[in-house]
Amino acid sequence: MPNASFKIWSNAKIFLMTEDAQHQFIESGAIVTHNKSIVWVGEVQDLPAQYIDNHSAYYDVEGRVVTPGLIDCHTHVVYGGNRANEFALKLQGVSYEEILLKGGGIHATVNATRALSEAELMQQSLKRIQQFIAQGVTSLEIKSGYGLDYQTERKMLRVAREIGKLFSLNISTTFLGAHVLPHEYKDKKAYLDYVTEEVLPNLVKENLVDAVDAFCDKIAFDAEELENLFSKAKDLSLNLKLHSDQLTNSKGAHLAGRFQAWSVDHLEHIDEVSIQILAHSNTVAVLLPGAYYYLQETQKPPVDLLRKYKIPIAIATDCNPGSSPCLSLLTALNMACVLFRLTPFEAFKAVTKNAAQALGWSDKKGQIKVGFDADFVVWDINHPDELSYYIGANPCVSVINGGEIIYDK
Ligand code: NIG
Ligand code: FE
Repeated sequence: MPNASFKIWSNAKIFLMTEDAQHQFIESGAIVTHNKSIVWVGEVQDLPAQYIDNHSAYYDVEGRVVTPGLIDCHTHVVYGGNRANEFALKLQGVSYEEILLKGGGIHATVNATRALSEAELMQQSLKRIQQFIAQGVTSLEIKSGYGLDYQTERKMLRVAREIGKLFSLNISTTFLGAHVLPHEYKDKKAYLDYVTEEVLPNLVKENLVDAVDAFCDKIAFDAEELENLFSKAKDLSLNLKLHSDQLTNSKGAHLAGRFQAWSVDHLEHIDEVSIQILAHSNTVAVLLPGAYYYLQETQKPPVDLLRKYKIPIAIATDCNPGSSPCLSLLTALNMACVLFRLTPFEAFKAVTKNAAQALGWSDKKGQIKVGFDADFVVWDINHPDELSYYIGANPCVSVINGGEIIYDK
């Protein structure tokens, strides 16, 4: 039966993900897609006739490396304004915490984001999104958390969903209403009740939320205070993520582990007992070297302990206007290797297979595999290790998402 909608990407050096910490690749390979999925992967010479006879498009990638589309599993890329003025202060020695306590930091971005219309917020955010796509990102998580009121949280999440449609990207939306206590509230419980009972259920009704996140640290909320919000999220069948152990040992992993969160993120100050708890869940440890670098932290996440307990590690940009104005997942990869001593293979897996797990997409994204989504990238490199090797290079040639070319150099 003729089916002319097969697309073939041929003459590709295809990198597969294996369990044993080794890259496995097909030297002269082909990928066949049908609609949004991969239907065949193998050596060019083994391409079945049914695909050759019935294809609608054929691309010769000229021996270039093809990897899964990169996944940035932790971003705050939708926000208003920027905080370049605070950067200057930080360089003079004023800390992130001091800036926040004086009404700047996250509060400054909340003010700037509240002031924008939805169209303006989209306009400011999409310039950043274009940079991600041009560096091979096909999927990204986008958090709210610069609204801290119903209208603005809704506006942010609507922009996030719209970005997915506009750019044919896979977007996972995360509600971060529990980011910090907004100025108009004096009482944390009153604010968290509002977020839990009013804001979240209404956003869920509009299908704007895939997961719920919170900032569990001394300048935001403690694990006990977040208990109700997490229970509510579970009642609403939502998944959970948590900013944890970034500035202090906040024990957020205990909460995250108990609720089987998708991920715990940052983790510079996590202890071994907390990691043992993670080992009993499927929770991914998301490391954010951009924030570590930008805040000039000195305590590194305990990568050896994460390895010892076999916790999957993901890497993300944490793109945000304060602690990590990083628009490059490739740069975050390099930082993860240089600053946290990940191997290039661990770093690669951290933005593909493990990042997919951190967004609940283990069964369909992050690998080039039959049945998986046809999200992949053609690179002008010889080996994926080169992705974390350069600083400031962009070897991305073309980006395919759901079987469609969404970027071509
Ligand atoms: O992941 N830690 C909390 N939230 C963000 C920073 C937000 C900001 O400074 O605007 C983070 O680092
Ligand atoms: Fe963050």
